[in-house]
Amino acid sequence: MQQTILDRIDRVADDVVSLVLRGATAPLTPWEPGAHIDLALPNWLTRQYSLCGDPADRDSYRIAVRHEPLSRGGSEYVHLFLKQGRRLDVSPPRNNFPLVPAAEYLFLAGGIGITPIVAMLRAAVEGGAAATLVYAGRSVAAMPFAGELRSSYGDRVRIVATEEQGRPDFAVMAAELSPRALVYCCGPASMLAAAEAAFPAERLHAERFQPTVRTFKPNTAFEVTCARSGQTIQVPPDESLLDALNYAGHAVPAGCREGVCGSCEIAVIDGEPEHRDDIGAPAGRLYPCVSRALSPRLVVDL
Ligand code: FES
Repeated sequence: MQQTILDRIDRVADDVVSLVLRGATAPLTPWEPGAHIDLALPNWLTRQYSLCGDPADRDSYRIAVRHEPLSRGGSEYVHLFLKQGRRLDVSPPRNNFPLVPAAEYLFLAGGIGITPIVAMLRAAVEGGAAATLVYAGRSVAAMPFAGELRSSYGDRVRIVATEEQGRPDFAVMAAELSPRALVYCCGPASMLAAAEAAFPAERLHAERFQPTVRTFKPNTAFEVTCARSGQTIQVPPDESLLDALNYAGHAVPAGCREGVCGSCEIAVIDGEPEHRDDIGAPAGRLYPCVSRALSPRLVVDL
């Protein structure tokens, strides 16, 4: 973890604050557009937030947090209790949503899903790509950074206040999409579903805040051997692999516990994993908060 100090907290839209976290000691770990950090809150919750500042700024990270009254308590704490000057631990940035080089981009953002897109749009424009952003939200007042983006990028940015204008028509955009363009989408589940229905899968890159609803075959028991310690642990059907590892004394970090953030990633040395995450685990990796085993035994690098 890296220690930071909350340098600024500013309201940037209805129910949304922006936090600037300054490194308490050494320069902060560098990051690329699309990356997020785990923010360890003083109430023992850890939450993931996309970085929306400037990657060239090695002294601070900027994130934005929407107040979700029905959430599990992370955004509530940020909005009600965090004050300037508070020391906060953050993880090094992790990037599950990297910007693949392209000549053209169409960025689609919904509400707080604008956060990773802010840095992506900047990088695309600075890199000389043709980039367009369609940014939808209930109303302009509820859309963080809408004014900042319009004044920085002018006509490249189309703001859609859905209460007045309805939802943007992705089918029309897909029909007009340049063959050279990649599409990046971050927003609520309904927006991601509409983007997946409209754009070819090989050109669409999407980041989820919530797991997709899917049905898996019933859980079965398996065992996991930790190669470094030599310990073998039984994982019953009603327990996650992450919990089994933690109860056995392996402090595997975790954030979302829903297979969307990547905090709990571990290396698999042997056995056949059953991947249940929404990130797309790289070869030889596994997210034990949700994923299990298809083989009777896994060997992991712990
Ligand atoms: S804790 Fe987020 S992917 Fe496992």
